[in-house]
Amino acid sequence: MDAPPIELFSPAVIRARVTALGAQIAADYAGKSLVLLCVLKGSFVFAADLARAIDLPLRVEFLGVRSYGDDTRSSGVVQITQDLTRPIAGDHVLIVEDIVDTGLTLSYLREQLLARMPTTVKVCAFLHKPSRTVTPVEIDYLGFKIDDVFVVGYGLDHAERYRNLPYVGVLAP
Ligand code: IMP
Ligand code: MG
Repeated sequence: MDAPPIELFSPAVIRARVTALGAQIAADYAGKSLVLLCVLKGSFVFAADLARAIDLPLRVEFLGVRSYGDDTRSSGVVQITQDLTRPIAGDHVLIVEDIVDTGLTLSYLREQLLARMPTTVKVCAFLHKPSRTVTPVEIDYLGFKIDDVFVVGYGLDHAERYRNLPYVGVLAP
């Protein structure tokens, strides 16, 4: 058995932050209907918690994206593995991302989604590694900034493992 990842954000800390983000989003989008666009696979846990923290009528869509191989480094190549089930033209779209690392995935996604004529596109990211930025992208709602470490848990994987970890941790060396 490998050593368990070293805890960076506990379930309680995560819960408090997600609740605050949800309240802020609900206030900002009051009176509007929202499309939460969950970017698979990494965002599935965050999106599930965030959706329940937003007290507004909303729709959930999933977009499958692959930007990493089974490694801890970005391939720089973004592949859409699963498309939306409905148009987003005229909608207020909030992209829900697990982590913004180089920014390549998010900038590519923004471009793709803007071509579908939504009314607005904003971004809610759970984690951000500012020191790794290659393509700067605006993050409208952010959970936590982190250093340049590879994290797992709360939806985030390493070679598809650890997504079910209830906390965010750093892989033990
Ligand atoms: P970017 O295109 O470099 O911003 O990478 C974004 C994607 O890379 C995320 O959606 C994750 O799937 C993956 N990723 C980047 N950093 C980490 C990490 O520390 N742990 C797990 N996945 C990561
Ligand atoms: Mg991943």
